[in-house]
Amino acid sequence: MSIAEIKNLVDAFAAAAGRAIRAGFEVIEVHAAHGYLLTTFLSPVSNTRTDRYGGDIFGRMRFPLEVVEAVRAAIPEATPLFVRVSAVDGTAEGWKLDDTIVFARALKARGVDIVDCSSGGLTGSATAGPVSRALGFQVPYAARVRSEVNIPTMAVGLIIEASQAEAILQQGQADLIAIARQAQFNPNLPLHWAHELGLNTRFEMWGEEYGWWLNKRARTMDGFATPTGQIIRRPG
Ligand SMILES: Cc1cc2nc3c(=O)[nH]c(=O)nc-3n(C[C@H](O)[C@H](O)[C@H](O)COP(=O)(O)O)c2cc1C
Repeated sequence: MSIAEIKNLVDAFAAAAGRAIRAGFEVIEVHAAHGYLLTTFLSPVSNTRTDRYGGDIFGRMRFPLEVVEAVRAAIPEATPLFVRVSAVDGTAEGWKLDDTIVFARALKARGVDIVDCSSGGLTGSATAGPVSRALGFQVPYAARVRSEVNIPTMAVGLIIEASQAEAILQQGQADLIAIARQAQFNPNLPLHWAHELGLNTRFEMWGEEYGWWLNKRARTMDGFATPTGQIIRRPG
């Protein structure tokens, strides 16, 4: 990319954020993860530039930070700005968690509200992760950024149960939980999790055309079923 193209793209990001605000979005997230353009500037594996947008980590961060500054300036002060990062890019000589700490400090200084900690995607398939997949496998990234940089973080990746999500928050590993595939499996997931965590007992968070009926059913089933309709079978 030429310097002129970089400048144009910084403006294009800001204009896109402005359109998103006008369209009614209440949060803006800059995507600097998963091998998309901004990631390719961050990682020394993909950024082989010899000008001020390459070289050491400060050169490699320059374009993503210019984008963040322009987006921050283009949206209302009260609108939360998130940045999704690949906390590690998954290559041997590439972007490491220590680099993410440096980046997160720079993001915080520019008014970013949440660092959304994902990983990988720079090489191979965008969904092929660099670390072995286990429940909450990327949570340690969110935890370290949060504790070292003192900035709120979002955890994502194989978070599939209410108690698991709640424990991440209660243990101070992250401030927000992002869910993708479990919400495809069950589009009512946030409402179900609220039930499991003891909230929403009268279905008050549901739309009335559902909530009224489900609350009525729960009252009918009082004593032999949970609000989510699981039958309580007593021994004998
Ligand atoms: C249908 C679908 C579309 C996705 N699109 C994006 C995307 O545009 N940008 C992104 O950063 N991640 C995207 N992801 C990845 C998710 O944001 C998330 O990081 C990943 O699925 C791991 O979380 P999960 O275990 O809760 O699914 C997508 C995932 C799914 C299932």
